[in-house]
Amino acid sequence: MLTRLDVRLPAPASSERSYPVFLVGDGAVERRFAEELQRRMEAQAGARRRGTARAPRVALLTDETVARLHRGRYQQALADRGIEVVATVVGDGESAKSLATVEAIADSWAGARVDRETWVLALGGGVIGDLGGLLATLYARGLPLVQVPTTLLAQVDASVGGKCAVNLAAGKNLLGSFLQPRFVWADLTTLRTLSARDLCAGLAEVVKHGLLGDPGLLELLEERSGAAASGEPELMAELVARSVVFKARVVAMDERETDSAAPGGGRAQLNLGHTIGHAIESASHHAPSEQGPLRHGEAVALGLLAELRLGAKLGVTEPRLEARIRRLLAGLGLPVEVDGWLRPEVLARVGVDKKGEGATIRLALVERPGVPRLVPIPEAVLFQELLPPPA
Ligand SMILES: NC(=O)c1ccc[n+]([C@@H]2O[C@H](COP(=O)([O-])OP(=O)(O)OC[C@H]3O[C@@H](n4cnc5c(N)ncnc54)[C@H](O)[C@@H]3O)[C@@H](O)[C@H]2O)c1
Ligand SMILES: [Zn+2]
Repeated sequence: MLTRLDVRLPAPASSERSYPVFLVGDGAVERRFAEELQRRMEAQAGARRRGTARAPRVALLTDETVARLHRGRYQQALADRGIEVVATVVGDGESAKSLATVEAIADSWAGARVDRETWVLALGGGVIGDLGGLLATLYARGLPLVQVPTTLLAQVDASVGGKCAVNLAAGKNLLGSFLQPRFVWADLTTLRTLSARDLCAGLAEVVKHGLLGDPGLLELLEERSGAAASGEPELMAELVARSVVFKARVVAMDERETDSAAPGGGRAQLNLGHTIGHAIESASHHAPSEQGPLRHGEAVALGLLAELRLGAKLGVTEPRLEARIRRLLAGLGLPVEVDGWLRPEVLARVGVDKKGEGATIRLALVERPGVPRLVPIPEAVLFQELLPPPA
């Protein structure tokens, strides 16, 4: 199977910045990847490279687990086509998303003579995609980027749309930029080695996409929750394809999240579950609970439930939706006990937009599946509606 989906960005320069997302799921995946990459690198270099002896070069960024499981075959396929690889491996997990890691990698690239002709290849989950993206915007004032997402979360969400960021102590993703990749190569075979916990974490973003723009996707997940939570390959391919189609549509109408007048509130609608989810995720990293820090997708599952409840209290969201989504998330192996997270010190981490009178939060909500809506609320309302009444 080889499906090509396109992310079309509006003029000017749309033809250059539009890019394909390849969903690939059978034999010789990495060989076809190397061919695709080489073809594009040659087209870019064009006449400039012709006649020079220098081999095309790729800066491959990955984490320890993906290096152990999947790097070898990709690196070999690139070597087979004469592409030189400068490989960098970072530690697993969210803690790698820091400016310190960006600086250390940039220093090592400088030592390895990574230059303006080099392409960045982010092979891994959303953490590697974010790091690789930010490095590609910064190093030598910008290098071409290719995303090879290896988690479900990165295939359904993080690898598409061009956002990239690292974390600050003050909050998640506060230091970031935009860079659309040259192409995305979603190798569905890599999902087979994903832990059950990481697979389920990715399903939370699929639920988000279903809630925002594809109600049929919610029904599919409800009917096939067992198959989804066990990573059934054909179902994964469908979830990735439908998610990419939805996300590409939203990104195409409001690439930089600046047009809240666009349908559904524009790209900001994709923050559904994340306004409160990011606060819960940060809190879980700073005051670790027994189960340790939450995965991003787990925090999004909890954030979705909190925001569906808030939406109902504000009279925006269909009241029964929270219970429906709670059943679905639980069936998908995701955490649903959100009440324990709704504490003042956690809600205080919610990012606020301080323009205008007092602190206002622009909440991405849904009225019902398929009908997103942005609702500005004063910060105080978040506390009033979500904290338990004082005893
Ligand atoms: N830029 C965006 O638009 C965007 C969108 C959504 C999420 N994100 C970011 O993505 C991150 C979460 O992504 P994630 O859930 O992929 O986390 P992750 O990158 O940390 O990956 C989760 C774990 O899975 C392991 N792993 C990766 N691929 C594997 C494979 N094929 N087999 C076995 N193990 C594998 C990793 O080593 C890691 O331990 C968060 O930092 C989030 O903020 C970014
Ligand atoms: Zn997310």
